[in-house]
Amino acid sequence: MRTPIIAGNWKLNMNPEQTTEFVEAVKAKLPDPSKVESLICAPAVDLDALRKAAEGSNLHIGAENCYFEDEGAFTGETSPKVLNEMGIDYVIIGHSERRGYFHETDEDINKKAKAIFANNMTPIICCGESLETREANKQEEWVVAQIKAALEGLTAEQVSSLVIAYEPIWAIGTGKTASSDQAEEMCKTIRETIKDLYNEETAENVRIQYGGSVKPANVKELMSKPDIDGGLVGGASLDPESFLALVNYQD
Ligand code: 13P
Repeated sequence: MRTPIIAGNWKLNMNPEQTTEFVEAVKAKLPDPSKVESLICAPAVDLDALRKAAEGSNLHIGAENCYFEDEGAFTGETSPKVLNEMGIDYVIIGHSERRGYFHETDEDINKKAKAIFANNMTPIICCGESLETREANKQEEWVVAQIKAALEGLTAEQVSSLVIAYEPIWAIGTGKTASSDQAEEMCKTIRETIKDLYNEETAENVRIQYGGSVKPANVKELMSKPDIDGGLVGGASLDPESFLALVNYQD
């Protein structure tokens, strides 16, 4: 059985003080981690505060990106080795904002996935099509190609443990959520792709999130779908009450 995982992606929001306040407000009210895993992925500059505030609670902590080398002359990058030393559990990679604004390629994302595993953390690999691609009805081949490239060379065991986030670009920050059927259809396609690439057991184990204007009002409907195992949430994860409503969607 896959444990649902609801994750906040704070993007370029919050400072260390706000991070501490947020965690203080939510930490006693998080669900039992065997029922729903709660995760906040924060900017690198907030991770130390996040880890300290979350200590001893049910909150998992994640970074929003890292580099694929542990150290060296790579000005401005974040080391996966140091993220692990800090106690970080998850790292988001391949977000459409990083692919779009920072020109991250499928090859970079694949290298980052390997570096994250090498440093004993779990990648959350994002994929998703643009509006143009969906209007051309090419969304499935687009996302399948992204998944194949991201997973290249990973073992079945690694893929079983990772998280994939399907985030159609047209639904991010637009208030326009994919319908639960559209989200389910793509999450199912991703699971079938993993079955073809690996095996049934791996496909049954991998957790697939939907992201794109997830909010307390639509989380339950999305989570009722068989292939949607969680949400990756931007805007609605910034407010403690809203985040609590999301992670406690089963209540
Ligand atoms: P919103 O929830 O703000 O649409 O953002 C989604 C997202 O990009 C999460 O990674």
